[in-house]
Order: sequence, then C-alpha cells, then structure tokens
Amino acid sequence: MNASSNAPIVTKGDWKVTMNPDDIYRNPMDIAWTFAYEFGQDKVEDLYRRAKQNQWDSDELLPWDHEVDPSNPMLADQSIYHQMPFFKKLSKSQQETFTAHSTAQLLSQFLHGEQGALMTAACVTHSVPDAGAKLYAATQTMDEARHVEVYAKYCEKIAMTYPMTPWLKALIDATLQSDRHEKVMIGMNMIVESLALGAFNNMYRSTTCPLLKKLTFNVMRDESRHVSFGHVYLGPVFAAMHEDDREEMAQFAFDAINVLAQAQMQGGSLASRADPGFMMVLENSNIDPDDFFKGMEEAEELGLVNKLPPGQIHALDDLMMPAIARVGLITKRTRPMYEEAGIPISEDLHILEAMEGGHPVVDETAAAAE
Ligand SMILES: [Fe+2]
Ligand SMILES: [Fe+2]
Repeated sequence: MNASSNAPIVTKGDWKVTMNPDDIYRNPMDIAWTFAYEFGQDKVEDLYRRAKQNQWDSDELLPWDHEVDPSNPMLADQSIYHQMPFFKKLSKSQQETFTAHSTAQLLSQFLHGEQGALMTAACVTHSVPDAGAKLYAATQTMDEARHVEVYAKYCEKIAMTYPMTPWLKALIDATLQSDRHEKVMIGMNMIVESLALGAFNNMYRSTTCPLLKKLTFNVMRDESRHVSFGHVYLGPVFAAMHEDDREEMAQFAFDAINVLAQAQMQGGSLASRADPGFMMVLENSNIDPDDFFKGMEEAEELGLVNKLPPGQIHALDDLMMPAIARVGLITKRTRPMYEEAGIPISEDLHILEAMEGGHPVVDETAAAAE
C-alpha cells in the first residue's frame, strides 16, 4: 500500500482520490523514429483499419440520460459473494448496499486501469520501431482515452470512486517502468487486457443497467482488438528473437502474472484485507471485516468461492495463460516456475480466439463446457 497520511487529496463532488509520490516517475524507454513508412505486417494493418472504422463517440452512442440509482445494485444477484452462506444471512438492504459499493469498487478499477492503458498505449506509440504498429498504437491510445472518459462519467453518475487496488497499480507500474516496448505490450496487451476482457465480459452479462451494458459492450469491442495486437505483432517478433532475449520476455511475463495470481490466491482479486478500497466497501456496508472474511473461508471450504456462474469466464485460465503460451513465452525454463507458484498452465485457445474475432461476448455454451 502506497498511501501516506500527508498525501494530497483531490476532491470532486463525492470523489476523493489521493496522490502519492510514487504516482510520478521517470520511464527508461527508448524512443524510436522510423523512416521506413511501410506497413509490412498485413495483420497489424488489418487491425489498424478495423480500429479506424470502429471509432465511436460516447456522446452520440450511449444513453447518458438514463437515470442511475447508486443505491440500487447494478448487478443481477450473480456475483461470487451471493453464493456465500454468510452473505445470504445478511438483511436484504445490507446485501444491496454491499452489492452497490462492491460494484463501484470494481468499476473504479476499470477506470484506473483504463488510465494505465492510455499511458502504456502512448508509450508503445513512441517506442515501437515498426511503422504499422506505431499507427495502430495511436488508435489504441485514442480508444483508451475514450474508455477513461466513459468510466469516469459513469463513476460520476454513481457518485462513488474507490482507490486503485494495490496489486493492479503494482502490475501496471511494473509495465510502465519496464525498459522495452515488448514488455509494455506483454504487461498491457497480453496480461492486463486479458484480465479486463474477462471482467468486462462478466460485467456485460451480469449488469441490469442499460447504460452500463451498452458502455461495456462497446469498450469490449475495442479491447478485443487490443488483445489481438499483442498476438499478431509480438508473435513474429518473439519467434525471431535471440533465445536470451526471449527468456527475458518470458521472465517478465511470469513475474507480472505472478503478481496477479498471488493476489487472487490471497482470497480473491478484489476482496482482500490488503486492499484499503475493499475495507472501505465493508465499512460503508456496515459489515464486520472479521465476519466477512470468516464467511469467505467457510465458502472456500465448501468449494463455492472459485465457482464462476454459468457464462462467466476466468481471465487467467481462459485468456491470459493461452495468450502467453501462444506467443511462445512459456519456455522450458519458466514452465516449472508456474507450477511451483501454483499457477495452472492452460493452452486452450477457443475462448480467447472467439473473443478476439470482433465478437467479444463469449458463447455461453463454450464457457459452460469449461
Ligand atoms: Fe481500454
Ligand atoms: Fe485496451
């Protein structure tokens, strides 16, 4: 946790966001000019074309006049929390308050994560040496700006923004502080965006708010291109790389995934005592943290917490690990590291490929068959 008691607080209406010294740092990246204005890689060019054709203006496209009641949960009763016996014992109003706040906490992570994506996409634009990839990365930068805009606007509607989860900040900071554009793309286009695509898919399926549903659908269509870019650009780059360099990339991928996997293993990626935002959710819902985490343990023992509702996908197993494996980043050297860290290696591409094809919402029967 990087909050310090004397950190300045930025307030906007009901928003309170702290700024910390480690929110400003230098980046060691090379900047690459290119004078070969050739768009050699067909697949990157194709993504650039799709990105140009699919730009959208949120002012025109989204029903912003839809009234959102922040006290009324925006999710159907499908979350993992609803499966906990402890949760079922809470009063209806307490359940609703918790659902509203935990949804706001999740949406806040989307907002903060989108800002991270905006900065990584800009970083790739100035550091990738390939002309086609540079143009494509510029379209992604615009996409991410739009995503920050729409999530900021939605969070303003519900008048609640929670702080960034420490592990997500650590993961994006490691990506932004890396010294090569390939690592930025591993961290963002393969890892964080796989995570986002999974979370957006699940949000799309469970939200009852028509504005949030349409917003999420359009963001997801953009994200499917971003995840594809990681594959179509980096795949051939890694294949042509010297083995030592490829190992460096494989190590970076493992270290980044391990940050996420360890957070998930410590009781869920967002519900954790180590997350000050989640502790605020419990406080705002008037739920005793000891009772809550005891309830989580009980649900884990019953095997309930890790079971995803039908139609929902698991970002690590269904998207992230297959994406990393597909570009050859699970090497002979790093494979045992995943095993030792307790991270299952899944190489099944069918959900990832279905979501990349411009049809981001995964087929329900395919997910249920997992
Ligand atoms: Fe995004
Ligand atoms: Fe993205």
